[in-house]
Amino acid sequence: MCGIVGAIRQGEPVLSALVEGLRVLEYRGYDSAGIAVHTGQEILVRKKQGRLANLEGILEDGALAGASAGIGHTRWATHGAPSDLNAHPHMAGGGALAMVHNGIIENHQSLRQELAAKGIKFVSQTDSEVLGHLIAEELTAAPDEPLAALRAALARVEGYYAVALLLDTDTGPAILCARQGPPLVVAQGPGGTYLGSDLLALLPHSSDVVFLEDGDMGILTAGGYALFDAAGNSVERVPEAIDWDPKEANKGPWPHHMLKEIHEQPDVLARTVFDRMDEEAGDVILPGLEDDALRQVERIQVVACGTALHAGLVTRYAIEELARVPVDVDFASEFRYRGPVLAKNTLALALTQSGETADTLAATRLCQKLGARVLAICNVQGASQVREADAAILTHAGPEIGVASTKAFTAQVAAGILFAIRLGRAKGNLSVERARELLQGMRGLRSQMEQLLTQSKCEEMRSVARRHAAAKGFLFIGRGINYPIALEGALKLKEISYVHAEGYAAGEMKHGPIALIDPGMTIVCVNAQSPLADKMRSNVEQVQARGGVVLSVGSDQATHDLARDVCPVPTALEILSPLLNVIPLQLFSYYIAEQRGCDIDKPRNLAKSVTVE
Ligand code: M6R
Repeated sequence: MCGIVGAIRQGEPVLSALVEGLRVLEYRGYDSAGIAVHTGQEILVRKKQGRLANLEGILEDGALAGASAGIGHTRWATHGAPSDLNAHPHMAGGGALAMVHNGIIENHQSLRQELAAKGIKFVSQTDSEVLGHLIAEELTAAPDEPLAALRAALARVEGYYAVALLLDTDTGPAILCARQGPPLVVAQGPGGTYLGSDLLALLPHSSDVVFLEDGDMGILTAGGYALFDAAGNSVERVPEAIDWDPKEANKGPWPHHMLKEIHEQPDVLARTVFDRMDEEAGDVILPGLEDDALRQVERIQVVACGTALHAGLVTRYAIEELARVPVDVDFASEFRYRGPVLAKNTLALALTQSGETADTLAATRLCQKLGARVLAICNVQGASQVREADAAILTHAGPEIGVASTKAFTAQVAAGILFAIRLGRAKGNLSVERARELLQGMRGLRSQMEQLLTQSKCEEMRSVARRHAAAKGFLFIGRGINYPIALEGALKLKEISYVHAEGYAAGEMKHGPIALIDPGMTIVCVNAQSPLADKMRSNVEQVQARGGVVLSVGSDQATHDLARDVCPVPTALEILSPLLNVIPLQLFSYYIAEQRGCDIDKPRNLAKSVTVE
């Protein structure tokens, strides 16, 4: 989704910092990019549809090179097609200000009509340009009070925004910003002040960052920043120290971030899990989730989107088995609008890599309104979801750049299982011995994951993918705790390869999907050694009998014996098997996408973090 950067320095050029900031944000998905700088005399804008390289092409005239204040934007089109004119920044007030915006202005049509009636000429079809002109109008009325003008304009807006303005003040160029919904982060670095919609854009300048709260506004100058809350009071927000190394966001020698991130999973598992295990006590240490807080939990409501929802489904199986607490799982986008009913003592569990997914945030706000406490499983320290939750388990996946989530998924599943163990122990439904067995199993997963990621294993997977790349469709089937892994395998494949893939509960095949089976279909069967293995085998036999081509992924040798292609996975406790089974599926999707020449890290139409509905 859209990205914002801003930089203001004392007499030092900011152009390269802005371009580098936009480069960091590329992973979020965008279709145009632009930059505005204040040269000291005037505001200049350059913007271009397409990749950042197109924008860099038009920066070569050097006109923006010496400016020491500027803002930049990557746009993911919502209102108006991707085009040079619809790209941000938008100018307003006859060149008095440039503005970039993330979010949606819901009442943009009525505001546009009102402004047009006053003679304002619009050059784009965007809702954002409307906001720019609205601010410029207020600024004309109160030229010495830019923050008041911004506040007055925003008071007329319905919707949500992260907005940054570049303009002249009586003390020289400044950047103004405001947040209502989408994130904004500010930081003071050596020699300047920086703004970003994603903390990754700020980390090259400082690891101490301040997350604006909803309703906050700020003014950035080369000497620092001042923040104000929704009521207009000056506020001090304590900077958070971020422990991510900005280098982690580079792909290094890997051809794609996705492949690098798949290979990071053994370490991610270790970082997320090992320090939290107390094997001797047969328990898990999760601050804020001690016995007193958990004993009263009678139901869990999981809300999440996409891959995170699949991690939530795995977590459901783990919680119900280990803690004997009933769990409901919902798409956050459905939950928030269906007038949900929450039983007394329900704990809402939000899983989200970014912590900024609009639907998940809205769903948990609703849960809080309905009286539930919220636990977040999240990968980004300081994210909205973490700040709004009553408790959080941070996954330690590090920055995930590939749009297709891989390492964040395994970290979410691992954190979900840790939580299930903790809840089981707190509720008295899980014995010390069984908890110890699970924790030992988790410790062993790191080397089992490594076995799945050796060069020869990856080459085997690449050959398997080549053999199946021309299939006309893919059906992923699984049972029990591996059913969500079938869903996840199908989602990964469609996201990055653009081929049709469906995930299904294997037991449901005969109720419809079996009609799809013919020799052109690949059926990926996800299995584990479990009481359900026999049933899975008969599903495979039914598929084979109808000419379907089966790829068996898992640890059940008897299922492998029936299949055309196999991908053996080391044996683990059934409850932990999803953490291994998902890895070959990620590789399978990756190699099919490679075979099809797809843009693996930035699949078409997708954004990394979906901060609008
Ligand atoms: O940041 P979140 O975990 O809340 O994101 C949720 C989904 O948008 C995300 O998992 C999406 O489905 C990914 N592209 C999956 O690879």
